Amino acid sequence: MCGIVGFVGKKAAAPILLDGLSKLEYRGYDSAGLAVRDDNNNIEVVKAKGRLKVLFEKTNGGESLPGCVGIGHTRWATHGEPSETNAHPHVSGNSVDDSDVIGVHNGIIENYQELREKLIRHKYTFYSQTDTEIAVKLVDYYLKKYNVGPIDAIAKAMVRIRGSYALALMFKDYPGEIFVARKESPMIIGVEGGETYIASDVPAILKYCRSVYYIDNLEMARIKAGNVEFYNLDGDIVEKEVTEIEWDVEAAEKNGYEHFTMKEIHEQPKAVRDTLNSLVKDGRIDLSGIGLTKDVVNSFSQIQIVACGSAWHVGMAAQYVFEDLARIPVRVELASEFRYRRPILNPDTLVIVISQSGETADTLAALREAKSRGIKTLAIVNVVGSSIAREADFVLYTLAGPEIAVATTKAYSAQLIATYVLAIEFARVAGRLTEDGAKELIDDIYTIPDKIEKILDDKDRIQWFASKYSNAKDVFFVGRGIDYAISLEASLKLKELSYIHSEAYAAGELKHGSISLVEDGTLVIGLLTQDELFEKTVSNMVECKARGAYLMGLTSYGHYEVEDNVDFTVYIPKVNPHFQASLAVVPLQLFAYYITVAKGYDVDKPRNLAKSVTVE
Ligand code: F6R
Repeated sequence: MCGIVGFVGKKAAAPILLDGLSKLEYRGYDSAGLAVRDDNNNIEVVKAKGRLKVLFEKTNGGESLPGCVGIGHTRWATHGEPSETNAHPHVSGNSVDDSDVIGVHNGIIENYQELREKLIRHKYTFYSQTDTEIAVKLVDYYLKKYNVGPIDAIAKAMVRIRGSYALALMFKDYPGEIFVARKESPMIIGVEGGETYIASDVPAILKYCRSVYYIDNLEMARIKAGNVEFYNLDGDIVEKEVTEIEWDVEAAEKNGYEHFTMKEIHEQPKAVRDTLNSLVKDGRIDLSGIGLTKDVVNSFSQIQIVACGSAWHVGMAAQYVFEDLARIPVRVELASEFRYRRPILNPDTLVIVISQSGETADTLAALREAKSRGIKTLAIVNVVGSSIAREADFVLYTLAGPEIAVATTKAYSAQLIATYVLAIEFARVAGRLTEDGAKELIDDIYTIPDKIEKILDDKDRIQWFASKYSNAKDVFFVGRGIDYAISLEASLKLKELSYIHSEAYAAGELKHGSISLVEDGTLVIGLLTQDELFEKTVSNMVECKARGAYLMGLTSYGHYEVEDNVDFTVYIPKVNPHFQASLAVVPLQLFAYYITVAKGYDVDKPRNLAKSVTVE
């Protein structure tokens, strides 16, 4: 949902801002813009509709914008269509020359209409349809009304604005400085070598600095070269600890792969291994580091998993694993539903929220809803220091590294592993698994990375099959139990990347309506990784074949009888059936990837999407 960068230092700002934006383009890519201040204190704003490369060309890679102070933005439209006018930065006057405040914004201002009317009453006029222009003008209004400095003016605006925002502002009368403010939308500030960097996310500044500060909700910061001061809404200085970022620079680059999506699919063995290693010591699970001691685990008698999108699909798979191994009741819910449903939560419930970014607005709101009722929360999260990580009672970090492609792959896989380990630990503590039984399962999970490598080695076959189906109109994924959970993820991957309509169905449910959509040549992909459900799902697939469907079956080596019924088979290695999602998803990620590339679409940045959904 929009990416923000800022820089104050001795080097030329524009190339650094463009480079930072290129790492944040996954957050929005319908337009972009820069505002850079030169040594004579002239501020120039350049904006461009479309991908970042248009802005890059327009500014000659940043060279046409001299100056060492600047802000930049890549947009995912909320208010107002994607256009050069609506692109950020926005200014407090009619043009940059008659403006005292220039700013970029990430988030959504809910009471923008009311604020707009207020500003119109005070003779402000508007050139764009954005809520950001309103925020910039509101700060300008308070600056002049009370004749105060930027921090006081921003604080007054923050009190009036409802919604979420990360704001980075330059003030004409404050050369060499940028002011930022934050509520709900992410923002980090890095200081290194006498220079200061601002960004919505770590990859944007990883190349330049490792020491970062996380600005908290309803805080502001005054940024100079190599220096930052934080303030609360009262204007008092707030002390903060610096965090060292451990991700390596290569992790945020393509490293020879054509797309981040493919690179991240290949990073899954590492993401799985690293996550597992962080939770297991000498072959035994050890969650004491995250506060989940035996007594704490014992205190919960039910689990509520809350998440969005693919993270919710992880929850769907985890539900089967938890209930089967630990015999603890689990409910899985979409965060956007949970937060408005007035859920009934017993005090012995553990709410587990799952999120790669740690910033998803609905998931964060669900976490807060649970906490406000005194319910303990555990976050499975990938981004260190993200809002969800900071607010949850317990945090289990997945070690997937930075995920740049908009559609998740490696974070999904790392999340699955985290839930397996938790399920085993809950089962062990509840006495449903012996120490040895738990160890056996952990040993089995340790085989997953090599098995994923094996699947990746055989990707040419998937590529061939994908090329045959790149013109498909509809695709159905069917499965039962965990296979249903995998179907949900496989279907989302296919539709969000390739724009082919696809649906996931619990295999037994198809004939209750949706089978009427199956016609000659419709591709039906059956997930057949669960031995005791194998025949049932095959029967449901055969019902589709009788109506003209072309069948692809995905099962484990050994189930060669599947070829009697299906037209094309993908075999995957065997692992304990509870963990089979970790293997089955990989060929289906590859399938979605290859179809998308064959159709010539941008696999890393599908249309209309943004990686971090910080609006509800
Ligand atoms: C799909 C995808 C999304 C995310 C969802 C939640 O490929 O990536 O469905 O899973 O937006 O995002 P996080 O995990 O950041 O909360």
